[in-house]
Amino acid sequence: MNFTGRDILSTEDLSREDILQILKVSARMEKLVRAKRIAPLLADRLVAVIFLEPSTRTRLSFETAIQRLGARPVTVADPKSSSAAKGESLTDTARTVEGYVDCIVIRQPETGGARRVADAVAVPVINGGDGSGQHPTQALLDLYTIVKERGSLEGLTVAMVGDLKYGRTVHSLSYALAPFSPKYVYCSPTELAMPEAVTRDVRARGIPVEETTDIRAALARADIVYMTRIQRERFEDPAQYERLKGSYILNRKLVEQGKAGLTVMHPLPRVDEIAEEVDALPGAAYFRQAHNGVFLRMALLAMVLGKA
Ligand code: NCD
Repeated sequence: MNFTGRDILSTEDLSREDILQILKVSARMEKLVRAKRIAPLLADRLVAVIFLEPSTRTRLSFETAIQRLGARPVTVADPKSSSAAKGESLTDTARTVEGYVDCIVIRQPETGGARRVADAVAVPVINGGDGSGQHPTQALLDLYTIVKERGSLEGLTVAMVGDLKYGRTVHSLSYALAPFSPKYVYCSPTELAMPEAVTRDVRARGIPVEETTDIRAALARADIVYMTRIQRERFEDPAQYERLKGSYILNRKLVEQGKAGLTVMHPLPRVDEIAEEVDALPGAAYFRQAHNGVFLRMALLAMVLGKA
């Protein structure tokens, strides 16, 4: 499958073969980075990194990936500093920026916004998170992490815990892992349940899905627990956030009650969903997971720019 010129907007669009190819290229990128070699695959290319929502990992790992490939980032890191603050539409911004660069990475608050940008421009667009929609590069780095932590993607039981309604990472992960015969346990307060459309889609792909509000029940069967932050910025009613924050806190005791060798993942940032005492456990993979983001994003950039 040739990725040249392709947009990366949603994990729904990716086949098993696509995913395996991306993971293979990511492993090659990791080797280069570990050998301290800069592969100037994208020398002379410019990549716009437009972040109209807060970010640490996604933006910095994209910028690191860009630099590691010998390309240069052109960055908007603060929405207040861009013309979005003057009322410019997303697509007008995008149509302007496409004239400056070879690829656009964009994070913005509107669900479906990245697709609108991709429809408006000719350069490849990578979705760095569209509101409570999708976060495909996160899910791909999650898969890369799973292979490294567990040796394989096949047949895993994954408990996704926390804010499954607004959490775009778990939407993307649900689709990304789907070709690898998983079982899902969705654990959330009822108000923050996985969107019906996602649950329906994954069930239609033959994946068993169990829904629960009880983290102990979720952990009992899980090979991987994927914790998420309650997405405060998405709540219309602050009182509802206050009621639901702190719903689940994964501590050492809970991990020890789970299956031996449980892998603990989190896209980060964490607020209080994982107690710090968990960090030292061998299965606590979340910082390794964050580091993997660079390799994965290097692979995607090189692939969509036809240089992998
Ligand atoms: C996630 C996001 O932005 O959706 N963060 C990230 O990119 N690693 C998760 C979150 O903000 O809770």
